[in-house]
Amino acid sequence: MSVPDASMKHAAPLEAFLQSFAGTTWDMAEVFSQLREDAPVVYVPILDMWVVSRYEDVVVALRDVERFVQPVGVMGEVPAEFAADLPGGYALSHTALTNANPPDHTRIRKLAQKPLTPRAVLRYEDMIRGVANDLVDRFADAGRADLVQQYAFPLSVTVMANVLGIPSDRHEDFRRWVLGTFELMVPTLTPQRRAELARDQVEFSAFVRDTIAERRAAPGDDLISGLVQAREGGEPGLSESECLGVVAQLITGGFETTQGTIGLALNTLCEDRALLDRVLDDPGLLPSLVDETVRRFCPARGVFRDTTCDVTLHGQVIPQGARLFVLIGAANQDPAQFDCPFAFDVDRDPGVMRRHVGFGQGIHKCIGIALAQLDIRIALEVLLSRLPGLRLVDGEDRPLAMGFVFSTPQRLVCAWDHHTTAGA
Ligand code: HEM
Repeated sequence: MSVPDASMKHAAPLEAFLQSFAGTTWDMAEVFSQLREDAPVVYVPILDMWVVSRYEDVVVALRDVERFVQPVGVMGEVPAEFAADLPGGYALSHTALTNANPPDHTRIRKLAQKPLTPRAVLRYEDMIRGVANDLVDRFADAGRADLVQQYAFPLSVTVMANVLGIPSDRHEDFRRWVLGTFELMVPTLTPQRRAELARDQVEFSAFVRDTIAERRAAPGDDLISGLVQAREGGEPGLSESECLGVVAQLITGGFETTQGTIGLALNTLCEDRALLDRVLDDPGLLPSLVDETVRRFCPARGVFRDTTCDVTLHGQVIPQGARLFVLIGAANQDPAQFDCPFAFDVDRDPGVMRRHVGFGQGIHKCIGIALAQLDIRIALEVLLSRLPGLRLVDGEDRPLAMGFVFSTPQRLVCAWDHHTTAGA
């Protein structure tokens, strides 16, 4: 594959872009602007990827599923000694949503979205409120806490486990499986660590397969029951392999993004006292706040695609078989689409707000939007109502997750004046 060198014009934005992965750049606005203006479609040799940052190009890459396809094999090969125990590979690799194309994708998506509609997820509202209140009970008396590690993170894992109907005595295992799934995507793992994580994946797949069989025999009110029962017309439902893939993809799609959005929203509110007061007076603003957090700070800053043929974007020929990093975070701040794109503005016109691509666009657009919005809204509502005077603690580090895709806080130490009890 012949590729152009990054020119001098591209050097500055690219350097800033690459440094941002060290996990220290909270606000990527400046870096994204430089990329959009000076290098909207650019090959980055060290990553062996093309970075695409303007809204119009990002939308093409997301919507055109003929020329831009989802990469496969992001978790690497299953070590040979575990291959027999993982028929079809890791759970996440089973053909389901992210790694499926039409017509399979269309069929699976129709079934998988049935238990995830705005109406269907309402059944989880009380459960989410209960989890949020229990967590606040644990640290409220202390007067300060790390709201990522003690709130956003455990809340997201516990809610997801409860949504799937995983019993509480397996929540610790669930947490290990979820984190292990992400760790397996790190290409520099030692063979020993890869084997440990693969063993966990055997356990995870077996657990989900057993749960699928149980719920087929005796359905409950949980999401796995919803998936195994979903039918469209007279067609058969999801196969066991498809259910396994959907469950794994829901978990990986929903975890880091949800907890990250809670952390990013809390940080924004603590930095903007006037906005925090407005939200306390009118919790009805929370849905717009969640959307604006996803637009402005984009917890999943980009998605990957591979080209199926030579493609020309902005006069640049991207060769067949190239990998793209499609920067949805940069698209969401494109001034060609959003007035004052760097302002955090919960009063944006809903029609304009709907254009943001923080949940993706096209056939792979996030299937978990309704659950994410419910989960994040309740998480914020409970915390803000119970901890008056919430503020950041001066001098405490606010590191971001190290890494490529996610731009989410790892630590957010906050204090408050006093607290109220649940339901008060
Ligand atoms: C604020 C929270 C969330 C954000 C920002 C987010 C973001 C995204 C984005 C950008 C995509 C498109 C990926 C692509 O085009 O390659 C996506 C797809 C997806 N998301 Fe989410 N997500 C969130 C919450 C959730 C939740 C809670 C779930 C699970 C219940 C979930 C499950 C999925 C799945 C399975 C897909 C793939 C859909 C398909 O390929 O048809 N996400 N999400």
